[in-house]
Amino acid sequence: MAQLWGGRFTKETDELVYRFNASITFDKKLFEQDIEGSIAHVVMLEKQGILTCGEKDAVVKGLTGIRKDVEEGSLVITDEYEDIHSFVEAVLTKRIGEAGKKLHTGRSRNDQVALDMKLYVREKVLKTASHIEALLETILSVMENNLTTYMPGFTHLQKAQPTTLAHHFGAYFEMFKRDVLRLQDIYRRMNYCPLGAGAFAGTTYPLERAYTASLLGFEGPTLNSMDSVADRDYIIEFLSALSIIMMHLSRFSEEIIIWNSNEYRFVEIDDGFSTGSSIMPQKKNPDIAELVRGKTGRVYGALTAILTTMKGLPLAYNKDMQEDKEVTFDAIETVENCLVLFNGMLSTMKFRHNIMEESAKKGFTNATDAADYLVGRGVPFRDAHGIIGQLVLYCIEKNCSIDELGLEELKSFSEAFEGDVFEAISLKACVERRLTTGAPGIRAMEDVIKINKDFLARIWTKEQPEFNRSCLKGQESERR
Ligand code: ARG
Repeated sequence: MAQLWGGRFTKETDELVYRFNASITFDKKLFEQDIEGSIAHVVMLEKQGILTCGEKDAVVKGLTGIRKDVEEGSLVITDEYEDIHSFVEAVLTKRIGEAGKKLHTGRSRNDQVALDMKLYVREKVLKTASHIEALLETILSVMENNLTTYMPGFTHLQKAQPTTLAHHFGAYFEMFKRDVLRLQDIYRRMNYCPLGAGAFAGTTYPLERAYTASLLGFEGPTLNSMDSVADRDYIIEFLSALSIIMMHLSRFSEEIIIWNSNEYRFVEIDDGFSTGSSIMPQKKNPDIAELVRGKTGRVYGALTAILTTMKGLPLAYNKDMQEDKEVTFDAIETVENCLVLFNGMLSTMKFRHNIMEESAKKGFTNATDAADYLVGRGVPFRDAHGIIGQLVLYCIEKNCSIDELGLEELKSFSEAFEGDVFEAISLKACVERRLTTGAPGIRAMEDVIKINKDFLARIWTKEQPEFNRSCLKGQESERR
């Protein structure tokens, strides 16, 4: 057992107690962050005259040596230490002697672990955003290539009105766009440095917290030392953003599973992203989509776990908070894998355009447009709705679609029908007339695609949150 706090104790810690308390098996993931934070701390200690230049150099050299050796595998992080902080300090002192013991001056493991975790999560926020960016690129290219790929749109999973594949995918673009913006928002709010908060009450050493904050790329230091060591909001915010990402991915997965089913056959998942059955030779299963859908529960679980752990904790640090790590690490890794695999599946998936279009033609998706046609001929909407309802019933009995009827047959339902009805309720016309902003008509979609391209190009620039609004000015009326 190697621990940092033996002085006050008269008995060895019971082995089980020690193991229960230790966190090295999982917080070794924070190894790089721990070294990075320690280097910043010691550089500041020297700047403030707390350590000599020689001591600082020895510590920095020692820490970079440890980092290199762990990376190269010649130094292994073993379970004989209580946590990653103890490991780094013990190895450092073993290697450089007295100066190593000064590293922890003006610091507590409470602000140290708060910093390590923040550095880790901050990097993962950006990494997750970049995975979503890649997914957005894929979605956008499907949109650009499928402006006239007609398909049924659904409500209650019943065919409702015709739309296009571009429009359907555009819905997911908006969802994942919000996810990126959410991550950026979290990043901005979390980017303050807890280092220098000490155990919870700051320290009497003349630390310069703004300096370590800037060395570590933070906007500045956190402003209350109790909150600094007790705050895990940013983890909860991140897990909540991850949960929403998974919710979006799982809705998308569900649609792909349905579209890939024998009954729909709208898409064909690439062999590389499907799996077979051990007994049924004909099977090609959408396992990736199903797993993404399934893993959503696991990420929600992480969010619920930490919310529950943090509930009712008194200030400041409590050991309960050590429980923040395993579930967070797991959720981050899960979402990362899901995003990468989902994107791979999507970018190799084939769309069966003809089947989609045939399906849109079949389910009376033009019934609303047929009613609107009658309205255009002076029939009140409520009457038109009733007339088309009867027409649909008639077609169901005859097993045909509205546009397969003759004009005389149509006229027997309403005298307002004329020869131009067939053009008016064609799939193409139904979609193309929908030109309100956000609707599936080609020109409306083109305007949105332009905005979204711009979004991807400017995703990390300052003007980015504003342009969504300004780009749209005046376009809606120009389209008609
Ligand atoms: N392993 C601890 C954690 O993850 C580090 C902080 C320990 N602080 C303490 N006072 N025991 O939270």
